[in-house]
Amino acid sequence: MELITWLDSYSVGNDKLDGQHKRIVGMINALGEAMLAGNERAALMKIFSDLAGYAKTHFTFEESLLAAAGYPGLAEHRERHVDLNRRLADYYRTFYTERTPQTVEVMDFLQHWLFDHILEEDMRYQEHLAGHPHA
Ligand SMILES: [Fe+2]
Ligand SMILES: [Fe+2]
Repeated sequence: MELITWLDSYSVGNDKLDGQHKRIVGMINALGEAMLAGNERAALMKIFSDLAGYAKTHFTFEESLLAAAGYPGLAEHRERHVDLNRRLADYYRTFYTERTPQTVEVMDFLQHWLFDHILEEDMRYQEHLAGHPHA
């Protein structure tokens, strides 16, 4: 079962960024499926750790693209990424220390906070990036 189904309307108009966003969605779905299937904690932690690591890589790449395009909202956008990285690290730590992972809370965060970032905050640079295709 897919928790998030990718739609063409989610595109920010850049193939590389769209590809990375799709991969993040795929990783959120994989974690959700593994949790629903009751997979071992070690397996869940591995997927979560991969997701947090990939999200970090994506944020850095996205920021470099926005910087090259002279995006005026970059500083604010970077703050959102810092916040998301911190939350991902917090959840990972909780995952690591608690005997019972807070499945519902973690999935709620991944689906809403992380995914909404793509659909709302990332979407705001779409127009600017379209005007700077060679950034
Ligand atoms: Fe993004
Ligand atoms: Fe972003």
